[in-house]
Amino acid sequence: MCSIVPLTIFSFGLFGLSVSQSVDQTPATGWGGIRCYDKFRNPQRCIPEFENAAFNVLIEATNTCGDNGPIEFCRQTDISEVKKSCQLCYPNQHHAKYLTDFHNQDEPTRWQSETMMENIQHPNQVNLTLHLGKAFDITYIRLWFYCPRPESFAIYKRTKEDGPWIPYQYYSASCRDTYGLPDTTRTIRGEETRALCKSEYSDISPLTGGNAAFSTLEGRPSAYNFDASAELQEWVTATDIRITLDRLNTFGEEVFGVEQVLRSYFYAIADVALGARCKCNGHASECISSIGMDGSRRRVCKCEHNTAGPDCNDCLPFYHDAPWKRATAKNAHEYLSYEERKDIAEIINKKECKVDGLIISNTTISRPENLHCKKEALEAGDLSGRPLKEMSTIMIADMYKLLNGIPIIGVGGIDSGEDAYEKIKAGAKVVQIYTSLIYNGPPVVTQIKKDLVKLLEKDGYKNIEEAVGKRS
Ligand SMILES: *[C@@H]1O[C@H](CO)[C@@H](O)[C@H](O)[C@H]1NC(C)=O
Ligand SMILES: *[C@@H]1O[C@H](CO)[C@@H](O)[C@H](O)[C@H]1NC(C)=O
Repeated sequence: MCSIVPLTIFSFGLFGLSVSQSVDQTPATGWGGIRCYDKFRNPQRCIPEFENAAFNVLIEATNTCGDNGPIEFCRQTDISEVKKSCQLCYPNQHHAKYLTDFHNQDEPTRWQSETMMENIQHPNQVNLTLHLGKAFDITYIRLWFYCPRPESFAIYKRTKEDGPWIPYQYYSASCRDTYGLPDTTRTIRGEETRALCKSEYSDISPLTGGNAAFSTLEGRPSAYNFDASAELQEWVTATDIRITLDRLNTFGEEVFGVEQVLRSYFYAIADVALGARCKCNGHASECISSIGMDGSRRRVCKCEHNTAGPDCNDCLPFYHDAPWKRATAKNAHEYLSYEERKDIAEIINKKECKVDGLIISNTTISRPENLHCKKEALEAGDLSGRPLKEMSTIMIADMYKLLNGIPIIGVGGIDSGEDAYEKIKAGAKVVQIYTSLIYNGPPVVTQIKKDLVKLLEKDGYKNIEEAVGKRS
């Protein structure tokens, strides 16, 4: 019998294959105790822990021995041995839950199918389906067989829960005949998301303890430039995994139809492991459990960088003005990140650039949750006025600290003297109004000026100049 390769050494090799995806992405903990910012508060790419995403997740099996009443199965030993040792399997004894329970190599628990006697051989198939509940970035899928490895089996994935099943990898001693594919281990550029067929794991030996491991990026040339390959980023993404067991390996003596022989052929798997990270697009370092509206428990990313959504696949309301992007090692793509704001300030601070002032800010294409007119909010177009008040004030305060006295013109939701005063204290030297002028007409200007005078007096300022940036 073949010896069993220990998981630790084995997965080490797999990590090496996908350096660009697994290793250099893990940054040190920084500002706020999270890995999404460095110690200077600059946003940086962050990713959740590497984990076995299948652990304790129930796999659905289309066939399990004992489910249709106790059946007899016999131990596969050797072709020469005429008398086989047989026993019964009972309901739940080899339940699919044993595929993803704690895997003890010395005393493995296992899932087992019915036997060839119950007609599980080709063209019938047995499917094992794993629903992850959200998107994961898959590094490897590893199976630990208790029976001989199948002659043919395939791995499929879904990228979305309601999406089609996409072939991920085929394993077969008869690639051409069974799957119509050549036996290959590498793809070429331009075809990197094609499923391959390998004969590597299809021998009948060992009779127990054989592994099969599918490393999602192995043999795909762009793996070493993973950040730049949108194709491979999609390739490693999966919400569901299916293993289709298509054909049993045999010694060929089943053709004689001896019952004990037929009962010695069945599928049995001791463990399924999924080396993966919760997919958060570089915007979260943690994936937490959340209870959905239907009461089901799901994993969701704890998003940073002003992103939102189960995979941090969107911008937070108010942070839509720059398009959403996946974080890379060089740029976290936070909504106008601190780095980018510093860049802008550095340029306009230069004398030779001759910038006289900065207007902050423009309208917003975001749809904040507290909008009154929900129906109209579905229409395309920009929002101005009150919905962007807070956002613009925050941006003014941030830029004020970075600019060397270059005047800021504050815009966004100014309706009253109080609103204008907030903008001034955040750093605006001048304010501009659009929306409130449309709704209130010119008298609103006089009202704002009157209110401003009162507010300045109350705080003991002699003029507006003195109040500029006092909140920042
Ligand atoms: C098994 O999976 C394959 C591939 O997704 C599918 O075509 C087939 O219908 C499934 N069979 C069963 C019994 O669920
Ligand atoms: C303000 O936003 C609108 C809509 O997004 C855009 O068309 C326009 O160019 C922006 N104005 C400036 C000065 O950036």
